[in-house]
Amino acid sequence: MSALTQSPTWQALLQHAAEFRVHHLRDLFAEDPGRAARYSTQVAGLWVDYSKQRINDRTLALLDALAVTRGVLTRRDAMFSGEKINTTENRAVLHVALRNRSGRPIFVDGDNVMPAVDAVLAQMRGFADALHEGRWLGATGERLTDVVNIGIGGSDLGPRMICDALASHAVAGMRAHFVSNVAPSDVATVLAGLDPRRTLVVVASKTFTTQETLANAQAARRWLVDQLGDETAVAKHFVAVSTNAEAVSAFGIDTRNMFPFWDWVGGRYSLWSSIGLPIALYIGMDGFERLLEGAHAMDEHFRTAAPADNLPLRLGLMDVWNSSFLGAETLAILPYGTRLHRLPAYLQQASMESNGKSVDLDGARIDYATGPVVWGGAGTNGQHAFYQLLHQGTRLIPSDFIAAVRTHSPVGTQQAMLLSNLLAQTRALMLGRDLATVTQEMQAAGASAAMIAAVAQHRVCHGNQPSTTILFPQMTPEAVGALVVLYEHRIFVAGAIWHIDSYDQWGVELGKQMAGELLPSVGQRPPTGRFDASTESLLSIIHQHWI
Ligand code: F6P
Repeated sequence: MSALTQSPTWQALLQHAAEFRVHHLRDLFAEDPGRAARYSTQVAGLWVDYSKQRINDRTLALLDALAVTRGVLTRRDAMFSGEKINTTENRAVLHVALRNRSGRPIFVDGDNVMPAVDAVLAQMRGFADALHEGRWLGATGERLTDVVNIGIGGSDLGPRMICDALASHAVAGMRAHFVSNVAPSDVATVLAGLDPRRTLVVVASKTFTTQETLANAQAARRWLVDQLGDETAVAKHFVAVSTNAEAVSAFGIDTRNMFPFWDWVGGRYSLWSSIGLPIALYIGMDGFERLLEGAHAMDEHFRTAAPADNLPLRLGLMDVWNSSFLGAETLAILPYGTRLHRLPAYLQQASMESNGKSVDLDGARIDYATGPVVWGGAGTNGQHAFYQLLHQGTRLIPSDFIAAVRTHSPVGTQQAMLLSNLLAQTRALMLGRDLATVTQEMQAAGASAAMIAAVAQHRVCHGNQPSTTILFPQMTPEAVGALVVLYEHRIFVAGAIWHIDSYDQWGVELGKQMAGELLPSVGQRPPTGRFDASTESLLSIIHQHWI
């Protein structure tokens, strides 16, 4: 057993979890009228109600004790002060510096990084303003109205999610498009709808070595040069966002048109850096800075709030409770409204690439459950698709319900319907519907005894499914910034308890390496005998149908 699972607090939590199994959320609410008020809070413009989680005061006290024994707040302070907490890559973890609006210096290796952060923000503002004011024009003298971001993973998911979320804040006439997948239809479909004279391509890659991004960027470059018949047009229509100036230059983008960031920004935490350029081009630099303000407000809360009031700490500890003690294998992200429909995919990378680890910081195998499978989809659509399993399946599935109260698109009574559905689902998942109630309802509807006997059990919903509800007044840049950072720090807290490096991602390298080994064999020649039997047989199918 590991030191963590042997520790008295961990053991106490295990015992508490075993005892807690008999409690139903329905009873916890009935027995404790103060529960909703006690387990709700407002931080940085977000109203968060976690009273429908399977917790009581003892759970929280034990989790708080676990946080103390695991040194979570010490690790938090180490992150904020630029210590190299990403030990497997020997890097600081300083996405918080990107939205540090306090004027406080932050040092890495003795250098204050804030002047460089501010300089890149100024560079982004200069470019965004020039584009919007028609001072930066395309090679044919046209204004650039369509921004195509070519990137993948953290160089795609954040800007894409935020641009969708804040579409109501778009600068008039600006459109944002995203190419990520190496599947050829991705780049082809996006470019097919665009006028090259009015298109700006942002090639976004932290490393500038990512196979998919470079292939798609080459395709976009060929498209632009072919359409405009002018190789020099690239200078006006292509910019890069990267930490790798050499590779940007080798690709043929002038490094004067490059927006830098730094190795202490993890890809999945990079939307606040120049990786956010498409956001600034789409909603304006003022909008982007409002996003940073919201993010900073949540940072400051996390950095300074007392443990009992510290929302990311609390939610991160409850994530540990659900995964490691109650046995939940997944976390469902359920934004209500289409603007946040990409949030589940964004949080999938943020959480799963961070906390999908099975070796601890000391290099030892882990003997407890770490990060959950994160998934989800927008409500109300999901209600008509996968919620059935939440209501009547056999698995414990904690979920987060998220919504803006007011809409930027008032149409009929839809917004009221949206919110009533959100509330109904959190209630239904919590309360369920027992056999006695089902029987009574069927009797009242005139069902026969035989019908009741045959069907009633099938109508029972067990309830007791935990959820957290996050509401904010409107989809503003500040609210979205605070929301994303709430999750970032939750992930940090859980990772700190689990004693893992939440900021590396060695697991994704194996697949990249194997894809490189397989590439020459795809469609080129008959199977080679170099790979396993299944792969060889699949290669031969591909070879047969290649032309
Ligand atoms: O393959 C995983 C990953 O390294 C992510 O961590 C990263 O966000 C993504 O690829 C893209 O990397 P880059 O920005 O260097 O192209």
